[in-house]
Amino acid sequence: MVKIAPAVLLVDYGRLAEEILAVEQEADLFHFDVMDGHFVPAISYGADVIRSLRPRTAVPFDVHLMVEYPERYIAEFAKAGSDCLTVHAEVCPHLDRTIRQIKATGTKAGVALNPSTPLDTLDPVIRDLDLVLVMSVNPGFGGQGFIPHVEQKVEEMRRRLDALKLRCELEVDGGIKVENCARIAKAGASILVAGSAVFHNPDPVAAIRQMKRLANPSA
Ligand code: DX5
Ligand code: ZN
Repeated sequence: MVKIAPAVLLVDYGRLAEEILAVEQEADLFHFDVMDGHFVPAISYGADVIRSLRPRTAVPFDVHLMVEYPERYIAEFAKAGSDCLTVHAEVCPHLDRTIRQIKATGTKAGVALNPSTPLDTLDPVIRDLDLVLVMSVNPGFGGQGFIPHVEQKVEEMRRRLDALKLRCELEVDGGIKVENCARIAKAGASILVAGSAVFHNPDPVAAIRQMKRLANPSA
């Protein structure tokens, strides 16, 4: 089954817990977009938000660290209750060490690639990963359009994972909507991140249900 992960970014932070709890029955994971204002222009939130929400829901927390020097923050985000920590290859000169650091906390390890970062970047570490995050927008903002060439990148990533017989999740993040989720699932994604398509929809639960149906036509 292809999973849907609502992205916690374009939300009403004054009602954050209510927004999360309103969709928790349908959410397979919650995708938290942590932004530091350096790796990406925007600033979003830190580990305290993860810590505060952790006791409110049992849904796994998929934390996307769009931050420079992510190795400095792994321990606190793991302790705060992250189930998976994803770092960007573009800011990890010691990627192998950073992945080991994440896994040593008992948290799943993911690596994200920006749209222009080649898949080959992952070759040396692909066997150690629990999740690959293929960015389908340039990171830093919700509500952007899906970058079309990324569909072929997803297909190639799926080929590589299957050829190596790896159970690693293939997550696609950015611009995922009702209109394109079936295509991206067919291209090989196992997790679809959806921010504005969920939290900017008047009925977020219905939006997730519809995307889940479209992404899993034979279910
Ligand atoms: C962008 C984030 C995405 C984004 C998804 O930097 O990583 O998770 O918030 O939002 P939508 O689905 O609206 O593109
Ligand atoms: Zn994200």
